[in-house]
Amino acid sequence: MSSPRLWLVGCGNMGGAMLRQWVASGVVAPDRIDIVNRGDRDFPGGVRQARDLPDGDLPDMVMLAMKPQQIDDIAARYGERLAGVPVLISILAGVEEAALAKRFRTGAIVRAMPNLPVGIGKGVVGLYSESADAAARDQVAALMTPLGLVEWIDDDALFNVLTAVAGSGPAFLYRFIDALAAAGATLGLPADQAERLAVATVQGSALLAAAADVSPAILADRVASPGGSTREGLNILDREDALKTLLVETIRASVRRNAEMAAAARQSAVGLGRITLFPFVLSLSHRPSSPRTGTRRTALRQAQGERQGGSSSRNRTKRLSWCRNGANSDCLEGAAMVPLYP
Ligand SMILES: NC(=O)c1ccc[n+]([C@@H]2O[C@H](COP(=O)([O-])OP(=O)(O)OC[C@H]3O[C@@H](n4cnc5c(N)ncnc54)[C@H](OP(=O)(O)O)[C@@H]3O)[C@@H](O)[C@H]2O)c1
Repeated sequence: MSSPRLWLVGCGNMGGAMLRQWVASGVVAPDRIDIVNRGDRDFPGGVRQARDLPDGDLPDMVMLAMKPQQIDDIAARYGERLAGVPVLISILAGVEEAALAKRFRTGAIVRAMPNLPVGIGKGVVGLYSESADAAARDQVAALMTPLGLVEWIDDDALFNVLTAVAGSGPAFLYRFIDALAAAGATLGLPADQAERLAVATVQGSALLAAAADVSPAILADRVASPGGSTREGLNILDREDALKTLLVETIRASVRRNAEMAAAARQSAVGLGRITLFPFVLSLSHRPSSPRTGTRRTALRQAQGERQGGSSSRNRTKRLSWCRNGANSDCLEGAAMVPLYP
């Protein structure tokens, strides 16, 4: 298959990781890639970068890889130039296909959610599209395959869950590795040695889990013989489902934030900026949400409420009264301080 022509709008940490693996794997020839960013970065030789999109024919695909809050600026600058491009890929966390379609008159629009290990071909790329036909889906999947596991999602609402599990997942795992190492160091191992042990243990265990024909739950039981020391440790993690409960809460918080970002992008041109600055929410008191509140239900209720709501101020009022009613009392407090990011 011949190399596609690709334009990237923005190419920082994530776009750069994808780009390097595309070039390393040979799926895209470097001289078929043009990047528009605000300053030169270190990219593989042959890749062109500039402060504006190139003249001439449109490429096969364009990928948006700037921050979500820059979408209106980018749409104003490049929307006309990109009109008619056959496939628009967006890795912008929390920006739904409809919000992209509102700003860009392109052919198929595909949301892609990569995670950082794509840079070594061991990542995950979640894909979602209502507008792409089979040919466009194949084209995007072929581009993403050298980056790692490619998974299509059929339900836009579940894309936020995928984003939390796989897009944000590396951060959660790094915390776990760090905590495992810190535990070893607390009990006497030199800190650097504990870190090496923790990293290698997670690396080997993940490879084994990927190759195994049984689930990670069964693998855990295989390591832990009854009455043994591993079982003693697992008993702590399993007590009242401590680890599972913590992770459901973790993923729920990320999903909620993704839903908020999606709601903001659905609104007016200034919506994305506003949701981070909205000062009112800072004064809301923090009450932990019920562990039984369903992650997906929470995200969907909020998203549906905002879809049905009219003006942005009405939506915000609705969200705030929802918070005050205790349905999700911490729902916006954190959001006011967290940057727009997966
Ligand atoms: N990092 C992750 O783990 C991750 C995971 C999944 C999805 N994402 C998504 O990936 C996207 C990028 O995140 P990132 O971490 O790669 O951010 P980043 O490192 O800050 O990169 C953003 C890029 O956008 C460029 N840019 C900003 N404004 C621009 C403008 N007006 N015109 C042209 N280029 C512009 C920046 O150029 P300059 O460097 O020249 O300023 C930079 O190259 C976000 O939408 C995020 O939601 C990230």
